[in-house]
Amino acid sequence: MLREAGRCMEATVWFLTSNQGKLEEAQLHFAPLGYNIEQLVVPEGAIVEPQSDSLEEIAISKLEQAKAHLPNSNDMVMVEDSGLFISALDGFPGVYSSYVYETIGCQGILRLLAHLESEDPVQQKKLRAASYRAVTALWDGTSMIIGLGECPGSLASEKHEGHGFGYDPVFVPLDLNDEGQPLPAGELGPTSTHGVAFGGVELDVKHRFSHRRRALEHLLEQLP
Ligand code: IMP
Repeated sequence: MLREAGRCMEATVWFLTSNQGKLEEAQLHFAPLGYNIEQLVVPEGAIVEPQSDSLEEIAISKLEQAKAHLPNSNDMVMVEDSGLFISALDGFPGVYSSYVYETIGCQGILRLLAHLESEDPVQQKKLRAASYRAVTALWDGTSMIIGLGECPGSLASEKHEGHGFGYDPVFVPLDLNDEGQPLPAGELGPTSTHGVAFGGVELDVKHRFSHRRRALEHLLEQLP
């Protein structure tokens, strides 16, 4: 079991992902807990992503397929499906986030939202509200556990580059209160990027807000 294995330093969780950003964030989260996160590399085309509008359904399907590629059949394996959900676009790009990023990218998203501008900074955040969501599915050798995480925020009007991946140059998280919970748009909290998008902050700062961290925490809480 994961928790039993977690007491020793050699517990390995195989992470099926080709995204280096996701891998680094999972490694950052698991390293202090004594887990070694290894990238599970499979042959091109070996994993088929189902057509679904549910992150959870996609994650479960990929986890089932990933099991066949484990070095040892009772190893632990994890997958994550995530996306950016923009309120003004009824949740688009959502499950299509990866494809939309590869086609129109951050600049295309900024163009789609160009008409949503306000002089009032609070109104601006509300008009451009969005959230990152992640579903992480883990096979611990005997059963499947699902973790859900969300990071509410808004889309900036211009890119902040340097860190992160995907939509990080344009995604600004809501501030967090003393308990680490998101505050309403415009309220200032002790944990804040001060209006800077994830692309403009270090990885450990993103981690305090991140949907990925929340999904991993939710998952770890459920371990028997
Ligand atoms: P998938 O989970 O591999 O289908 O891809 C999710 C896509 O959502 C990524 O390729 C990114 O475009 C976007 N995404 C998910 N999480 C993040 C994040 O933490 N930062 C930036 N983009 C993200």
